[in-house]
Amino acid sequence: MKALLIGNGAREHAIAESIAKSADLFAFMSARNPGIIKLAKEFSVGDIKDPNSVLKFALHIRPDYVFVGPEEPLAQGVADILIKNGIKVCGPTKGAARLESDKGFCRNLLQKYVKDGIPKFAVCNTVREIDTAMRIFDTELVVKPAGLTGGKGVKIQGEHLKDFLEVRNYAYEIVEKQIGGMNTVVLEEKLEGEEFSLQAFTDGRKIVPMPLVQDHKRAFENDEGPNTGGMGSYSDSNHLLPFVEKKDLEDAVKIMERSVQALQKEYGIIYKGILYGGFMLTAHGPKLLEYNVRFGDPEAMNVLPILKTDFNSICLSILESRLINADFEKKASVCKYLVPKGYPDNPEADAQVGINESLVKQKGAKLYYASVNEDDGKISTTKSRSFGVVGFDTTISGAEKMTESAISAVKSDKLFYRKDIGTDKLVQKRVHHMIKIRGR
Ligand code: GLY
Repeated sequence: MKALLIGNGAREHAIAESIAKSADLFAFMSARNPGIIKLAKEFSVGDIKDPNSVLKFALHIRPDYVFVGPEEPLAQGVADILIKNGIKVCGPTKGAARLESDKGFCRNLLQKYVKDGIPKFAVCNTVREIDTAMRIFDTELVVKPAGLTGGKGVKIQGEHLKDFLEVRNYAYEIVEKQIGGMNTVVLEEKLEGEEFSLQAFTDGRKIVPMPLVQDHKRAFENDEGPNTGGMGSYSDSNHLLPFVEKKDLEDAVKIMERSVQALQKEYGIIYKGILYGGFMLTAHGPKLLEYNVRFGDPEAMNVLPILKTDFNSICLSILESRLINADFEKKASVCKYLVPKGYPDNPEADAQVGINESLVKQKGAKLYYASVNEDDGKISTTKSRSFGVVGFDTTISGAEKMTESAISAVKSDKLFYRKDIGTDKLVQKRVHHMIKIRGR
């Protein structure tokens, strides 16, 4: 079997590893990912967001199917052009990808089909609409550009935005400067709770969930500092999280099932690929904060290495609308991202990094390459996240220790990471927060 992967981050390196277990891997990347290059039979570097460039390489490879890693190519219609040319794609079409690329569209659809499962919201396109909408909320607010911002556009009152005035000004800025590429802002009630990521395979009818993961968006320890693409994440061996109960997972899966079915009912769109719900677990159960139409980054690195079912078989079953179940090892995982000093606001690039890959392997951990350059075997950093290091064990605490010990295989004083992710102290803080919120 031949599978063509689009993308070149650490998430895609983890996907590449899963594909290469039982298929010949081909890759189309916007930059050379040394990990993917090592696994691929053939690769090409070009503009992954340009549907015609992707099509050209796909016609050259003639794969059995294409897997698209990041959201931008999907939002640009890469799946549509490939399908039109007779190439199968495990990934949503442009219309289905609007669940992520147009948060206004997503909210309006969900309001009709999963009303109780989402926060109160308003979608605004003008300053006047913002003024009117802000009067209807009696809670603090979350402000979201409707378009894509790489996870960095969401601002929360009381955290990034001091008060009502800052909320209003940021909402104005989004519509006036078209932050996220659209003049649309979503205002949303701020919910109290703990966030979790539910990634799932779907053929447009059925949802097959993967182990739950919790990501850490803030750059610094104790959840301080600016928002990032994600600094690290953990999962537990029972595939829940220490603060999530089975019923919460079932409710979240139901929300996702109703969402893909809503796409078909309302627009005749059959969603095929990965759907990832970013949920807030509240005193009243899980509420969907946003959808992503792809694997999470870093969350893919938590779940794919412990996937027991063959990844290519799952993708083919999605394409044939007969989605099979996915089995995962009963293991906990902790992923920590190593990022350049100064990331995300003023990252220092071009630092040389030494990596002892055999030491990572010896520890039983995984190292996934993210945004780095390789020249003559020498690895140097860029301005984005550099490496994801992941440890596994029967407990989160054991996995965290493995991650820490594997990080010693990366030699550089120009990188930093969050030491607190996956530690007992931080996990217990989440558990106690949730106990307080539930009142039990
Ligand atoms: N975990 C954040 C993201 O993948 O968007």
